[in-house]
Amino acid sequence: LRHFLTTEGLPRPLLEQILDTAESFTGVIGKSVKKVPLLRGRTVINLFFEPSTRTRTTFELAATRLSADVLNINVAVSSQSKGESLLDMLRNLEAMQCDAFVVRHADSGTAEFIARHAQPGISVLNAGDGRHAHPTQAMLDMFTIRQHKGSFEPLRVAIVGDILHSRVARSQIHALNGLGAGEVRVIAPRTLLPRDVETLGVRVFHDMQSGLRDVDVVMMLRLQRERMTGALLPSEGEYFRLYGLTEEKLAVAHPEAIIMHPGPINRGVEMNSAVADGPRSVILQQVTNGVAVRMALMSMLLGRPGSGEDA
Ligand code: CP
Repeated sequence: LRHFLTTEGLPRPLLEQILDTAESFTGVIGKSVKKVPLLRGRTVINLFFEPSTRTRTTFELAATRLSADVLNINVAVSSQSKGESLLDMLRNLEAMQCDAFVVRHADSGTAEFIARHAQPGISVLNAGDGRHAHPTQAMLDMFTIRQHKGSFEPLRVAIVGDILHSRVARSQIHALNGLGAGEVRVIAPRTLLPRDVETLGVRVFHDMQSGLRDVDVVMMLRLQRERMTGALLPSEGEYFRLYGLTEEKLAVAHPEAIIMHPGPINRGVEMNSAVADGPRSVILQQVTNGVAVRMALMSMLLGRPGSGEDA
C-alpha cells in the first residue's frame, strides 16, 4: 500500500487490518504513553488548501506520536499566491526530502493527481477532495462504530443530510459496504442526493420517520453550503424541521442507536444540542479515534521496510 486515496473498492481484509492496527495504537494516544519510534526520521507535509480543525490537527498529532517530523504548509501565504503551479510547489517540497503529503483540496481528484505525479517513495493521504472522498474520516467512523457495536453485519446505518456534496458520505458508504454492514440507508431531500445514488448500494429515504426506523447508527452530515451552486434548498429552519436530528425524531431508532457527525456541526441546522451533547452522541469519540486511525494509516504506508514502493 503506497497511497490512501479512497475507501472505494478496498478489500474487506485491508479495511479490517486498518481498524485492527488503529486498535493497537489506542494505548499510545492515552496520557501514559506519548510516542512510538516507528516513523523516526520521516517527514510528513500537511498540505491543506481548504480549512480544517479536526483532520489537520489529528494528522499532525498522529505523525508526531509516531515520531515523524511534520510540516504544516500555510497555503494562503505560500508562493502559490505568486503564481507557482501546484506541480512546481510539489517538486520543491519533494526536494526537501519529505516522505508523505497529506492533502485536502476543494477540487475532486486533487489527491489522486498529486499521487500520480509524486516522486517514487512518496506517499499521499487524501484528507478530503471536493465532494469525492474523505477516506480517513470514513475509517475513523468505522472504528467508532466497531468500538460500540462489534460487528457490522447486523447493523442498520442511516446517513442523513447533504449526500450530494458530501465526500464523507461517499467514503462512509464504500467503507460500510466493504465491511459487510447489514443495511446502509441515506435520508435526504431529492435536491441533496447525487444522480448515481442508486448505484452506491444504499436504500434511499426522503423522510426521517421511515428512514430512522430501527437504525443502530445515525450518521449526520453538515450542509456543505460552500459547495452549493444554485441548488434548490429549503431554508435552514425548514431543513431543521424536516431533517434536523432531535430526540423526537430519534424515538423510532433502536434505543441503543449511536449518533455520529464528522464535524463541524451546525447546531440548530443538522441537529440540536440535546442530541449533539446527549448520552447517545459519540461525536467527540470520533475525533479521539481520528488520531489512532491516522497513526494506523501512516504506519502502514510509511512504517515498514519497503514501504513507499509502488504496490
Ligand atoms: N471532519 C472533518 O473533516 O473536519 P475538519 O474539516 O475540521 O477537518
